[in-house]
Amino acid sequence: MPTPSAISITPSTRSASIDVRDPQFYKNPLAAYAQLHAQCPSFFWEEQQQWYFAGYDQVNSLLRDRRFGRQILHVATREELGLPEPKPHLADFDRLEANSLLELEPPAHTRLRTLINRAFVSRQIEQLKPEIAALSHSLIDGFEKDGQVELLKAYAEIVPVTVIARMLGVPVEMAPKLLDWSHRMVKMYVFNPSLETEHDANAASAEFADYLKGIIDWKRQNPADDLLTHMITTEKDGERLSDDELISTAVLLLNAGHEATVHQLGNAVRTLLETGTSAKDVFSSDTATERTIEETMRYAAPLHIFQRYALSDIELEDGISLKKGDKIGLLLGAANVDPQKFTDPLAFRPDRNEGAHVSFGAGLHFCIGAPLARLELKLSLPILFERLPGLRMTGEAQIKDSYHFHGLEKLHLEW
Ligand code: HEM
Repeated sequence: MPTPSAISITPSTRSASIDVRDPQFYKNPLAAYAQLHAQCPSFFWEEQQQWYFAGYDQVNSLLRDRRFGRQILHVATREELGLPEPKPHLADFDRLEANSLLELEPPAHTRLRTLINRAFVSRQIEQLKPEIAALSHSLIDGFEKDGQVELLKAYAEIVPVTVIARMLGVPVEMAPKLLDWSHRMVKMYVFNPSLETEHDANAASAEFADYLKGIIDWKRQNPADDLLTHMITTEKDGERLSDDELISTAVLLLNAGHEATVHQLGNAVRTLLETGTSAKDVFSSDTATERTIEETMRYAAPLHIFQRYALSDIELEDGISLKKGDKIGLLLGAANVDPQKFTDPLAFRPDRNEGAHVSFGAGLHFCIGAPLARLELKLSLPILFERLPGLRMTGEAQIKDSYHFHGLEKLHLEW
């Protein structure tokens, strides 16, 4: 395999230069990961000025390592760490982040996670089966006769947002607005967002929070059998969630509840079609379907990077020294194709049974929505292939120019 020009590696200094905006890289990051695995799986990323880890064992253990956290300000001040003051034009965005489960560490994290966990355990999620299947069928009813469709807009984007909105008890008619707010907010999770992105994400955060505040007030008067009502009324050790916590958690669930799953639906359909995989075979039984879903998650993961702070000065086994407050990057997408863990890792093998990928993370922040995402994929993928025999791509898939969220802009299909 020729070295992609988007990456250059200097093994002697364990450093690498990668241009994330180079289509050669973001369209096929797996090729660059293969180079990293061969030459230096732990590397100092020149453009980002911090250490990154691509090896499966390292990523998996660093995600679980309690010497690292998603947060740092619970153990040190900004002054101590030389961090800049918060940006006033991001106040609304920061307010949501400040109470977000994803950004918290114990004990605050434990309390919030315990309060919502019950709704997301597999037993509870299984009950959504008929609803998700019916939704998938009704969407296909809408375009089946056309003989063609752009999958993202008509299917992949709609299933997850509808399911999570219904779960929370947010009106499904709001789906287009929810998608809009969410897309504008998650643009912040790329490297160096522009000032325009920051202003827009802040405006979206303010509108989103305002909308949810109204819904929460309404639900207080009109409790229903939904997750938002449960979050409003539930107590732990005599304590309830504050309004800010309720709003942040609802925003996180609504955003995380669809962004990655949308991409994963698109990535999975593309993978199956491009590799000429027989849907009949890979979806022939529950076990085969589950293995196939896991292999698409390994091979075409939707989220490639998560970061952690060193909570103290740390010497890693491979001689990398970190200072308290240093950030490290964990390349989930790369860990999934580590040849030390998976045989012939760049091959898509739906019957592969070599242990877990790390696409849902690991440790304390392991994706709470994993059972839900898996169920959505397990139902809506086979239904799509069953209903539209002869499904094929028309032209190339349009890949998103965004490294962190590896997904498709568009996937045109016909049958
Ligand atoms: C294919 C789809 C999905 C993927 C690949 C995915 C991936 C992830 C990953 C990697 C993390 C951990 C981040 C970290 O360690 O820093 C995470 C956390 C999280 N995910 Fe997902 N996710 C998916 C779907 C969902 C869904 C459907 C929900 C809906 C509820 C959801 C809600 C969350 C939440 C709330 C967290 C934060 C958990 C915590 O901090 O304790 N995700 N997800």
